Amino acid sequence: MSINQLIYISQATRKMSSEDLLDILKIAKEKNQKIDVTGSLFYNGGWFLQVLEGPLSTLNTLYKKIEKDPRHKNSRILYNEPASFRTFTRWSMNMTNLDDRQADKYNQLVEIIEAAKTNRKIGAASPAVTLLKIFKE
Ligand SMILES: Cc1cc2nc3c(=O)[nH]c(=O)nc-3n(C[C@H](O)[C@H](O)[C@H](O)COP(=O)(O)O)c2cc1C
Repeated sequence: MSINQLIYISQATRKMSSEDLLDILKIAKEKNQKIDVTGSLFYNGGWFLQVLEGPLSTLNTLYKKIEKDPRHKNSRILYNEPASFRTFTRWSMNMTNLDDRQADKYNQLVEIIEAAKTNRKIGAASPAVTLLKIFKE
């Protein structure tokens, strides 16, 4: 079945604790598994960046719901394109809290979020394309 990848950036409406983030992750994992969605959620200094992968109509419905969640605001889609394969095959949702400063690819991920915040490119590539690339490798 053909799939799409949707990536957005948003701002948390309050400071998220580890527990707050785990609450989001737990629900996302459970729900996404049932609707054949995979992806990854990154949190850094009050900003969320999320990759969602799955059938186009499923993603559009899911994004509309997530966008309305009061835990974040100003959500902006950075990327919404068909893909020939998934990048995050292992997780119905994964979470990286960059505030812990321990993440694999920490520097690259922080740079991607910083660039996405200000709509800046990284070299010739958009932040979203750069993100997909570093996880494909
Ligand atoms: C940053 C962020 C990311 C989220 N990601 C997902 C997700 O991937 N899948 C999901 O089902 N819910 C996600 N949620 C939670 C949804 O907004 C919603 O609260 C949850 O799906 C429960 O929906 P329900 O009230 O229809 O049961 C996310 C929320 C936030 C704030």
